[in-house]
Amino acid sequence: MTETGSLLASLDCRACCSSFDPDRAMGVCPTCGHTLFATYSLDRLGRGRWWNELGRRPPTLWRYRELLPVRRFDSVVTLGEGGSPTLALGEVPEAPGVDVFVKDDGGLPTGSFKARGMAVAVSRAKELGLKDLFVPSAGNAAVALAAYAARGGLHARVYLPERTPGPMVQQCTLYGAEVVRVPGTIREAGDAARTAERGRGSFDLSTLREPYRLEGKKTMGFEIVESARDGSGLPDAILYPTGGGTGLVGMKKAFDELAHVGLLDRIPRLYAIQPEGCAPVVRALKEGAARTTPWPEARTIAPGLLVPAPFASERILEAVRTSHGGGLTVSDRAMVESMRALAARHGLSASPEGAAPYAALGPLVARGEIRAGERVILYATGSGIPFAGKDLLNEFAG
Ligand SMILES: Cc1ncc(COP(=O)(O)O)c(C=O)c1O
Ligand SMILES: [Zn+2]
Repeated sequence: MTETGSLLASLDCRACCSSFDPDRAMGVCPTCGHTLFATYSLDRLGRGRWWNELGRRPPTLWRYRELLPVRRFDSVVTLGEGGSPTLALGEVPEAPGVDVFVKDDGGLPTGSFKARGMAVAVSRAKELGLKDLFVPSAGNAAVALAAYAARGGLHARVYLPERTPGPMVQQCTLYGAEVVRVPGTIREAGDAARTAERGRGSFDLSTLREPYRLEGKKTMGFEIVESARDGSGLPDAILYPTGGGTGLVGMKKAFDELAHVGLLDRIPRLYAIQPEGCAPVVRALKEGAARTTPWPEARTIAPGLLVPAPFASERILEAVRTSHGGGLTVSDRAMVESMRALAARHGLSASPEGAAPYAALGPLVARGEIRAGERVILYATGSGIPFAGKDLLNEFAG
């Protein structure tokens, strides 16, 4: 078997409704500059047979290959990503009567959920003949790109904000990526990267500026729905630490595709959790705005959430609103306390981002947005290991 059976049909812009051939390398929409989304021939899926067959496939994200963009098995660059556990916390003191679970992506290759997006994007880049890839990143996406590029024999350059945790920078170098340090946040790193790369023939893998990282992130949603099949039921709500927003947009896309083929009849409410010091999405939700405005003087200990101006904010807000979810800010201190609670009470190692949903749980219950009897997933996006032994509130608060 050489073909994956991918049903990829086109790349589509939701802003100007243009449609493009998916089998050539593309970044943003050439007509209007917005995000391109992969569209599949869902009607050809044969959903009953597909859904049943999934259980017999290996537990990596490639089990969903018909709804992923890679067409040939020999293009797949994999480190065994996907299939992360959903762990019951039982009832927690902060949320009496609520059935709480953590989906823990900290154990994925390279230590975060970014492995999902980069595995798929690097595989597809290889398939389309690209050789030189770059990304601006708060850390985790860079480590993931560095690892998957090494595995696939491609070249990677990563642009990292100055405050990126040392272990992440060192890992990028170890995987053989070129590392460029940039003063400021991911926003400045992105500007610097795009300026430096102009005319170089390299390919930009920035969040939502190319179509395929999102496809890898989509598997978070597929896994959540698939794991509900064992009789435990679909979650009522998912709390997600939001930076660039790919996770939220990706999960919503997964739910929409499964709903389209009749495999899902309701969608969990999606909640964007952001730090008090950088919360453009939560603010726009509160104000009823269609897009975010840049957050001035952004600061937080959670590097992945230090995104003052997310690129595709219209799509992030749309994902939250159409799922009937919401948003909440948490303090840096609450994130650190939640890292401790997850570790000491439950044996889970989470990064500050990964702990943010736990910090939001109690306040969302107090506000009546999450109720007793509901089932809630806290998405733990990254491992706490790069942060171990650090005095976070002093070292990273900036
Ligand atoms: C551990 C972690 N969690 C969450 C995020 C934010 O992700 P998203 O782009 O899906 O909002 C990042 C991004 O860098 C991250 O590294
Ligand atoms: Zn467009």
